[in-house]
Amino acid sequence: MKRIGVVYHSVSGCSKALAESVVEGVNTVEKCIGVALEVQGESIDQGRYKDQSLLVQLDQCEAIVMGSPTFMGTVSAQFKAFMDAASERYGDRCWLDKLATGFTVGSNFSGDQLGTIRTLQVFAAQMGMLWVPLDILPSQDSLGRNRGGCQSGLVAVAERAGEIHELDRLTAVHLGHRMADLALRISDFRATPFE
Ligand SMILES: Cc1cc2nc3c(=O)[nH]c(=O)nc-3n(C[C@H](O)[C@H](O)[C@H](O)COP(=O)(O)O)c2cc1C
Repeated sequence: MKRIGVVYHSVSGCSKALAESVVEGVNTVEKCIGVALEVQGESIDQGRYKDQSLLVQLDQCEAIVMGSPTFMGTVSAQFKAFMDAASERYGDRCWLDKLATGFTVGSNFSGDQLGTIRTLQVFAAQMGMLWVPLDILPSQDSLGRNRGGCQSGLVAVAERAGEIHELDRLTAVHLGHRMADLALRISDFRATPFE
């Protein structure tokens, strides 16, 4: 069974709803299980993220989906504290070659959510992870998913506090399915020795 971790922070509930939808998508793929892991403010002491058990659970995942609300054009302070704590795994390349992707939500259509996705991408690169873009072509999807047209990751726009748009929910389900499907295919590829 391949574990796909979905690590997220949420204040009013939109990122949590997106994380749950990503997990739903992961669980549509046989032999994969989605694990939602919430970064909680209580785990931060004097600016330092302290929950080692969450980090250890991510060590055991084949792929990691990261989600944060967009606050002032970037990740929330709580999610950044998690990222800084994960840097303990930078030196030993603990997450090397794990698949990574990300999602964010803001209350505006062009509320600088891309700044959040870029921050997550750079973090993944520093950790030696392989970033998976969103593969839904904007304006060409029969269901209308990826309504904002971002392909670097999933950018959502909050409906109102705690509520996500149905098309963003469907996009998150798709992203979860894609990550699980790729994680399975890549593990087959890794199992094939080079000639
Ligand atoms: C401190 C703060 C900064 C915010 N900055 C942005 C922003 O830069 N762009 C944006 O579109 N929305 C911004 N928002 C709105 C949040 O991204 C939005 O409420 C989102 O749904 C929160 O996610 P959550 O429901 O998972 O907590 C901000 C909200 C707060 C409280």
